[in-house]
Amino acid sequence: MSLNQFYSSFVQNALNQEGIITWQSPSNIALIKYWGKFGIQLPKNPSLSFGLSESFTQTSVKYSIKKEDKSKRIFRFDGNENEAFAKKIFQFLDDLDLFFPFLKQVDLQIESKNSFPHSAGIASSASSMSALALCLCSLEQELTGGLKEESDFYQKASFIARLGSGSACRSVYKGFSIWGDYTEITECSNEYAIDINYEIHPFFRGLNDSILIVNEKEKSVSSRAGHALMEKHPYAEARIIQSRKNLNGLLAAMSKADTAAFIQIVENEALSLHALMLSSNPWYSLLHPNTLTILDKIRNFRNTSGLFVCFTLDAGPNVHLIYHEENKTQIQEFIDEELLIHCEGQKVIYDKIGDGPKRLN
Ligand code: PMV
Repeated sequence: MSLNQFYSSFVQNALNQEGIITWQSPSNIALIKYWGKFGIQLPKNPSLSFGLSESFTQTSVKYSIKKEDKSKRIFRFDGNENEAFAKKIFQFLDDLDLFFPFLKQVDLQIESKNSFPHSAGIASSASSMSALALCLCSLEQELTGGLKEESDFYQKASFIARLGSGSACRSVYKGFSIWGDYTEITECSNEYAIDINYEIHPFFRGLNDSILIVNEKEKSVSSRAGHALMEKHPYAEARIIQSRKNLNGLLAAMSKADTAAFIQIVENEALSLHALMLSSNPWYSLLHPNTLTILDKIRNFRNTSGLFVCFTLDAGPNVHLIYHEENKTQIQEFIDEELLIHCEGQKVIYDKIGDGPKRLN
């Protein structure tokens, strides 16, 4: 019996021959940035992030045992067939044969939608790939009875999400997670992210992230191209050393709610990411003049108010304003009075640390 025949008879005997699985999974914002990769989506340096609450993808996978020789795939985004997205997703599914051999035996209808508009300047790959990976792991549970242990389930979901989009592997856990080899924590791995909340002071469960939309357009240079430029980057080695040092410092700061050290490291990481783009060959910049104006205003406001507030940046011009729930009123006044004028269409997404992905059915 070939492996395929084995899986075919196995799936034919599965308890649930059809069903629907729905997961909601968040986007995440990195405080220590992943930049540069090798092999199959493995990170050159460790990164740390927290999952958001309001910016998420909801994905449903409807499955049934295939009726014809070749299994059928349908993908809809926001209720409409989307050829470009579908091509990417179907290729991803084909590449997962080794990890989910039963996939060839089922017809799949995948529906996906985001809680945030496509044009909001928020990367949707982390939320969409983690939502799909969680659905596929639930499908494995339903068809094969495997992945019974919660830790195995999330580890595999993180591993699969990573294959779709590196930073997506950090979205499967609630709160804070680390991805990438890091000798100080032996459980850390390049293959998947781990939950790191036990190392973090409860103060940081109150983090807010207001995303100031400076420019909604899709970025001119993709993250994929940016990662590739790290290969021959003159500061590549220095970046790996810097990220580990910053991770040491951030974990120490977050274990005891040292907000001054937190601010210094988080802002240094954001600016280092963009400095690496500026010093790549060829160079490029994703910053907008308004981004720099906003960063200046944040520093001045922090100096005069003494409040805990800082920024981080993704690979784009939009500014993530990080502050604590307890200072929400003052910070929102600051946003309204000083920052909104620098945002495209005065747009801000008020987000905060979330409770992780949720299975909805
Ligand atoms: O996961 P990717 O390939 O989209 O890379 C994301 C890289 C950054 O968002 C810039 C940093 C990070 O760690 O999320």
